[in-house]
Amino acid sequence: MKGFISGLPKVELHLHIEGTLEPEMLFTIAQKNGVTLPFESIAALRDAYQFNDLQSFLDLYYWGAKVLRTEQDFYDLTFAYLERCHDEHVMHTEIFFDPQSHMQNGVAFATVLNGIDRALQEGKAQWGISSGLILCFLRHLSEASAIETLRQALPYKEKIIAVGLDSSEIGHPPEKFVQVFAMAREAGWPTVAHAGEEGPSENIWRALEDLQVSRIDHGVRCSDDSALVETLRQRYVPLTVCPLSNVKLQVFDDLSQHNIMQLVEQGLCITINSDDPAYLGGYMTANMLAVAETFDVSKAEMARFTERAITASFLPEEEKDVLR
Ligand code: ADE
Ligand code: ZN
Repeated sequence: MKGFISGLPKVELHLHIEGTLEPEMLFTIAQKNGVTLPFESIAALRDAYQFNDLQSFLDLYYWGAKVLRTEQDFYDLTFAYLERCHDEHVMHTEIFFDPQSHMQNGVAFATVLNGIDRALQEGKAQWGISSGLILCFLRHLSEASAIETLRQALPYKEKIIAVGLDSSEIGHPPEKFVQVFAMAREAGWPTVAHAGEEGPSENIWRALEDLQVSRIDHGVRCSDDSALVETLRQRYVPLTVCPLSNVKLQVFDDLSQHNIMQLVEQGLCITINSDDPAYLGGYMTANMLAVAETFDVSKAEMARFTERAITASFLPEEEKDVLR
């Protein structure tokens, strides 16, 4: 199975570029930019990667993102992730970025976007990896801040494939962002939202109905509501599930308790993704292998995760056919 999963062509639809910042690169960039770190060594930093919920992770994740300052930093971060994609046979990846966290650190929107975009073009040229960028609003900030971020993104319309919503789910439900999501749809962007990760299943309903999203990120709490599961099945709404992340953030006690295969059996459009692989347990191969081994999934069924991810992607139909 290990060899099969390693060589299996993959598509990733839920990946935060800031969550690919490995401790080694974090230290190197911090030193270059003169940012002082509260950790003495790479090992000490890695030791701090013990989380008991989403917020305990986000606190460290936003702190880590503070070292990123220059366009070259965003290029290097993204290029290192694409090298991983190449090694792991990821053919297509749709990448979240959090411009508000960088703008709060005094980094311009253009610096972030241009650095990431240049690496994506290089990844396409060198390895043929196709990609798209999804701008995420931070849900712990105000809707006014999200609207200002959307305004800054409009000149870069062609470099962004969709708009999403991430950060602290509890206390910041989807309906807080109805207006900005309507504006994003009006500008022509499809939308996605993190919902039902550690927040209630009602957030999935609200993301579908109030934000009119095309995909749900995580969505694992849908199992609490059978009518919702039936709606997700009928509409074949993709869920971008992140198995190792869910264990690291204690959404499930261990992988054997995860509902991913139950949701597959219920006929939902389930994909496997890595979320924040530098912090939360591994990249695509590690996630797929963990699922295959824990649930004794056949090779044919594992290949269907890639087939569903192609269908769920924002690629034009003719490019989906090329990947199939
Ligand atoms: N930002 C980065 N990773 C996230 C996650 N798993 N949930 C919500 N926001 C995030
Ligand atoms: Zn996520």
